[in-house]
This record gives sequence, C-alpha cells and structure tokens, in this order.
Amino acid sequence: MLRVSPEHVAAIDQGTTSSRCIVFDRAGEIVAVAQREHRQVFPRPGWVEHDAEEIWANVERVVREALASAGLGPEALAAVGITNQRETTVVWDRATGRPVANAIVWQDTRTEPLLRELDEELFRSRTGLPLATYFAGPKLRWLLDHVDGLRDRAEAGEVLFGTMDSWLVWKLTGRHVTDVTNASRTLLMDLRTLDWDPELLDALGVPAGMLPEIRSSAEVYGTASGVLAGVPVASALGDQQAALFGQTCFQPGEAKCTYGTGSFLLLNTGASPVPSSHGLLTTVAYRIGDQPAAYALEGAIAVTGSLVQWLRDNLGLISTAPEVEELARTVDDNGGCYVVPAFSGLFAPHWRSDARGVVAGLTGYITKGHLARAVLEASAWQTRDVVDAMNADSDVALRRLRVDGGMTANALLMQFLADVLDVPVVRSRITETTCLGAAYAAGLAVGFWPDLATLRGQWRSDAQWTPDMDAGHRERELRNWHKAVQRTLDWVD
Ligand code: G3P
Repeated sequence: MLRVSPEHVAAIDQGTTSSRCIVFDRAGEIVAVAQREHRQVFPRPGWVEHDAEEIWANVERVVREALASAGLGPEALAAVGITNQRETTVVWDRATGRPVANAIVWQDTRTEPLLRELDEELFRSRTGLPLATYFAGPKLRWLLDHVDGLRDRAEAGEVLFGTMDSWLVWKLTGRHVTDVTNASRTLLMDLRTLDWDPELLDALGVPAGMLPEIRSSAEVYGTASGVLAGVPVASALGDQQAALFGQTCFQPGEAKCTYGTGSFLLLNTGASPVPSSHGLLTTVAYRIGDQPAAYALEGAIAVTGSLVQWLRDNLGLISTAPEVEELARTVDDNGGCYVVPAFSGLFAPHWRSDARGVVAGLTGYITKGHLARAVLEASAWQTRDVVDAMNADSDVALRRLRVDGGMTANALLMQFLADVLDVPVVRSRITETTCLGAAYAAGLAVGFWPDLATLRGQWRSDAQWTPDMDAGHRERELRNWHKAVQRTLDWVD
C-alpha cells in the first residue's frame, strides 16, 4: 500500500480551565479544534485543585474529536506537541498510573507558611524565581507532608512527580520526562546547568528519584499509544513559552503577552539568563534539541481573564465573558473605580502572596458598566506595571507588543492597552499561538518544518491598535491605579 507522508501536526494544550487539541497544516493554519473544560476544585479559600484523571480523559476526548472533525486518523500526523498550564503539580503511582491526590494548581496559595522557612537568596540565585506560592516545588513538598505515607513511597521509588506536561507525556508514551521550560518553574532546577539542583532538592525535602528527566523542548520523547497510536510525541513547552514560540519571537528583544486566565509577558533575552531586580522572573524560553537554550524575562500576572469569569460566575453581571465589552461600553470611563484582582496574592512585580483584592473608589455613582470597565482596565494596568519592570530590567524600552489569547478579541481592552502602554499593540492572526508554538516545536523536531526562518515567514498580524490617550490623563490614571494596588498590599497587617 502506498504510504502518504503525513501533512499535519497536532498540539495538545492542557490549560487551567480547559484542554484543547488543534490540528495544523504545513502553512500553520488551523484545520480542526476541540476543547473541553474541567472542574475547578476550591476546597478552602486560596486552595485550587484539578483532577488529573479527569484532565487525561478530556485530553483523550479532544484528540479524538479534533481528528474526527478534520477527517484524519493518527497516521496523518507527523508529530504531536504538548503545551500546558505550568507549575500545577501532580504525583501519581508508578505501578497503577493513578494520581495520589488532586493536582495542586499554580493559583493555589496553601504553601505560603512553608516559604517562610526557605532561603530566598539561595533559590533566587539558582532558579531565577522569587519564593512564591506559584511554583511547583513547594506544592510537591506540601503533598509529601500531607498525603498519608507519600514520603515513604517516594523514597521507595513508587510514586512519580510531574507538571502537566510530564503527566501527559507519561500517559501517552510511558516515559517520565519534562522539558526545560516546565522544569524552570519548579524552584528545583538550576537555570544555568538546566539540571535538578541537589541543594535545592535537599532544602525542599524532595527525593530525587521521583523527578522526571529534564529534556529539551523539541525532540522525540517517545511514540504514543492509544488515541494517537504511532505518533511521535515531539515537543513540550509551558504554555507561555509555547506562545512566545508560536509568535515566532526568536530574536532577543522580541516580546509577547498572552491574555488567558492570567496574562504573561515574555521577553526573549537570548542565550544567557538575565537576572531581574524589578520583580520579573528569569526563565527558560525554549531549547530545541541539543542547541543552547534561549532564556526569557517574564512578567506573570495571575488574574486577568479569570476576573471577567468572576464577574460572570460570582457576581452574575454578565452571562458570557465577551459581554463584558458591551457592558463596559455603556459608560465613557471608569467613573473613578479601580479593581485590583489580588485573588492569589499579587504576582509580578510585587510577589506578595498575602495581598488581597480590592474594589477602590466606590461612590453611589458607580454602575455595573463602570465595574465592567474597571475589570477590563485592570488587565491593562497590570500589563503596564510589568512592562515598566521589563524596561527597567532590560535597559531597552519595549517598542511594540505582540498579543494573543482569548481576551485579545476585546477591542475596547486592546485600545486601552495601547493607550496605557503608549506603544502599538499588534495581534497575531492566529490567536491560538500556544498550540501553534507546541506544534511548531514538534514539527521542527521531526523535520516537518525545516527551520525557524520558515516559521517566522508564516507569522501574520490581523489587527493593530495605536496609542491615543493624553499623557496627563494617562499619568493621573496610573497614579490612581497605584493607590488602589497599595491598598491590596496594606490589607494584611
Ligand atoms: O503559569 C501559569 C500559566 O501557565 C497558566 O496559563 O493560560 O492556563 O491560564 P493559562
């Protein structure tokens, strides 16, 4: 029988609220998409969990659905790439494959007391990260301390740790690996050697035997069985790094910001890690096979899109997320109201796990329209704060920002973003850059695409917003925003 060469690459994006599978063709165009949400488990204030079994079942389903809607079988795929919500921590039984507990999600703040016992400088200098509840290592330590008998089982080699990339690659191929970008979010990896650091493992009390092998972001980890039988699993990247890759920000100085549950601005800084003195993270951007790693500075904002969901689900002011734009357009401005969504404390550039959110500037004049406007503006002001930090850290002012993600469909927000940043905001034509980046990395690993230049040639924008705000007005609004932020920091005494 004549074997036709595969003409597609698939990507699985295991995100905070849903899992999706997208099939791409050689031009990087979307051929099929399938998506499923999973449950968010909130056992106590500040705790957030996911059921890793439910997520795996959803992943199998979306892969099947995407292939079916494209009318393709797995043999049509040259490779599959994985991208994932980062830091979310799973431990599973090596023999049965069952998770030992719910996964602890990146937004969860339960590890705060534990962080106070650790040496901030040691962790920051080795990993490029501040001590914050956000990262995976302390979550793993929490599980080891609180799940009955887990430490003994970890020491006996009976259980395995992974972030969502590891969990999925293991489910697909039986290999226990992770990639450098995901490993760089654990507080356990040395950013320069790109290997687990024995001193950090010791400080956190993590047995080395339960950790995955750290591999590059683009290489064949194994061949899938089951729903993707026979397909090489050929990339893994944290979702924000995947979006940077999908936006083809391959040159030092290029940056993107993705607007999803949270928002994450990454600046490619090239072949060496740049330490931050303004509250940014130093992280691995990607590593292709045995080439040197590329690094990034990152401004991580925990809550942007999830604030719109909160307006919908907890306050009931809108019934679908896109309605927020319509509601915000019922008023001309925020009416003096500011929302600072410190739901998981405040991430960049503050790194205050104890901060709590505020709605500031309330008067009897404020309507739900003003509140919707303040909710949208919060995403832009938080971006402004990380851009200011980035400009200060890198000495080169950002000249334009590439954006992607679901919230970039909101034209009111995009214009406001350009206004408060005072630089043009350019949206990529394919806003699913996270999946695209994972597909690109997997395709490169198997030779489906020849090189980065080819990928770069496929990038297109579909919209651009230019700044149009009076400088005095911008500065006054920024001062008000900062007053509101200060109140979230003052909340806990
Ligand atoms: O670091 C957390 C980030 O990876 C989550 O991304 O898009 O699932 O909210 P997202």
